[in-house]
Amino acid sequence: MISPDTIQQIQSRIDVIDVIGNFVKLKKRGANYLGLCPFHNEKTPSFTVSQTKEIYKCFGCGKSGNAISFLMEHEKYSYVEALRWLANRYNVEIEEKEVSPEVRAKQQTAESLYIVNDFAKDFFVHQLFETEEGKTIGLSYLKERGFREDIIRKFQLGYNPQGKDTFSKEAIHKQYNEEVIIKAGLAVKRDNQLYDNYRERIIFPIHNQSGKVLGFGARIIKSNDKAPKYINTPENEIYVKSRILYGSFYARHAIDKENECLLVEGYTDVISLHQAGIENVVATGGTSLTPDQLRLIKKYTSNLTILYDGDNAGIKAALRGLDLAIEEGLQVKLALIPDGHDPDSFVYETGAQGFRDFIKENKKDFVLFQLEVSLNEAQGDAAKITELVNRVAETLSRLDRTEDFIRRQDYVKQVSQILKIEEQGLNALVNQHLRERINKKSKEDGFKTPNLKAPISIPLAESEGKEEILAILRKDEMQEKALVRVLIEFGLKPWQENEKVADFLFKEFEVNKLDETIDSPQLGKMIQLYKKWYFDGLNPTDKSFLYYSDPEINKSILDIMEFTPEISPNWSRVQDEKIPSREDLYLEEIRSTLTFFKLKKVKRLIAQNEEEFAQAKTTEEIKICLETQQELKKIEKAITSEIGTVIMK
Ligand code: UTP
Ligand code: MN
Repeated sequence: MISPDTIQQIQSRIDVIDVIGNFVKLKKRGANYLGLCPFHNEKTPSFTVSQTKEIYKCFGCGKSGNAISFLMEHEKYSYVEALRWLANRYNVEIEEKEVSPEVRAKQQTAESLYIVNDFAKDFFVHQLFETEEGKTIGLSYLKERGFREDIIRKFQLGYNPQGKDTFSKEAIHKQYNEEVIIKAGLAVKRDNQLYDNYRERIIFPIHNQSGKVLGFGARIIKSNDKAPKYINTPENEIYVKSRILYGSFYARHAIDKENECLLVEGYTDVISLHQAGIENVVATGGTSLTPDQLRLIKKYTSNLTILYDGDNAGIKAALRGLDLAIEEGLQVKLALIPDGHDPDSFVYETGAQGFRDFIKENKKDFVLFQLEVSLNEAQGDAAKITELVNRVAETLSRLDRTEDFIRRQDYVKQVSQILKIEEQGLNALVNQHLRERINKKSKEDGFKTPNLKAPISIPLAESEGKEEILAILRKDEMQEKALVRVLIEFGLKPWQENEKVADFLFKEFEVNKLDETIDSPQLGKMIQLYKKWYFDGLNPTDKSFLYYSDPEINKSILDIMEFTPEISPNWSRVQDEKIPSREDLYLEEIRSTLTFFKLKKVKRLIAQNEEEFAQAKTTEEIKICLETQQELKKIEKAITSEIGTVIMK
């Protein structure tokens, strides 16, 4: 954990132009800087960076954010990794919050594994290019396979010599720790002696998304029945197979630009496709996709296209777990490479354009593909088909987010055509699965369905009517946003002697339980964050939110600060000749924002009560509604008289 103090130091030194300028060529245009957007393909620049606002925005693809989110988006860093990058660039020493001894030990092991891997990678590259053995055995093999030297160098391929401990000796000589060498899988120990693990093999370094070497795949050169084709790094602190996508470091920008990720099986498939100019490709290393790998892909794109050879026995295994991909919102397509080929050999035959065309023409939606395969297998067996219908409905019910609605309906249409069944029937079945899933989920989460009639206390200080009245769940975004904005914009200014605006607002919130009436969870969270920072003595500003670790909050703050309410011309106290600035009027603005907020809530309660009134049946119910109505009107009147003559928007 990086300490808040360090984070603040980093934030204060960030120069957004400098940070983004590392990755994008920027030119000054008026107040802003302009460049070609790194997130989509464009010929005329629409990527704008504002130095004063410390933000970027692309008017072509709409991506926007701050220096940290740029690093997260462009380099696929985590928040902490982005901070480390910045700390390094701006010479801020990182002060770590206390971590447990176990965590510390693990970090240290990981760090030494990275270091020894880096050394090993350089050693293997040197062997491949600079030694007689490497050139005649390793390099000639790679060249025979058709790999160009620039590509071999780009992927940092290497060679481990035949001798039993050529690498180990050198590593020990260079003071690398024996235990770490073994843990990294570079050598094994037998009879108190180190033996190189990858003797006489081609070395494929495996990088993480930012280019650090996690481990290696070592391919045999002369095929041999006794030895495995590849020896891979054993699982350790940094090599966790289920999280690795081979090639992601080289593919990340291409995936962004193409908005598609191609998935293949082998290291050589990735490299050959790159050589042909198809760079948006990663490999799993011959196993089925794991949830972690899916999440990694989802960071770059939601379009996943899997390329497999049709005769591959492993295809079924590879496709397992893809229901999860669908649930995560990935659009999964499948293209089968013709018999006898894999992507590596196929791209040699067809060339880049031919390969692209082939994929474009042959890729099929994964769900529909699976359905067709199973339908063929069922061979008209009614029981099997019934089961199939049920299974497909189950899969479709995983598309349960609001934004998936259209896609789901689209599928229902296509699936019912393929299965020759009624669309309505399938829809009903999908909905049934949807309901079951939601019920199950809410039980698991211990989640209570929001109770629309839960009483809340009326948020009013000055008026006499503090009543428990029903509230409905409806958005009062405008007023809520305005309230959060005045808090962030004016919070640190004086309200009166010995009291800052934030003190006043938080007192007001507490007395009237105002924060409980905030509907937007996002805005509610921002108030809580402000409160925490403020009372921790951190003096929060809009920048604190702009650089906060939650990208949703970073977006919200841009939205809120852009949102500047107009002061109503009928505002009684503002009828002077000169039009005062918002700065002059901040006390007024705070008062009015708070009052509008309360008024909106009361109006909402009135509307709710009217609805209840219309439904009321017993005299008792009618009586309660009428009394409530009177009470609410009184409160409303109290608020409006406080405001004066104000035109309600
Ligand atoms: P392949 O057998 O297709 O290997 O296995 P490849 O990388 O395409 O090599 P070439 O083209 O035949 O030279 C696909 C992937 O499965 C993993 C590796 O990650 C490989 O890239 N694999 C395969 C192993 O981990 N161990 C093995 O013994 C074989
Ligand atoms: Mn292969």
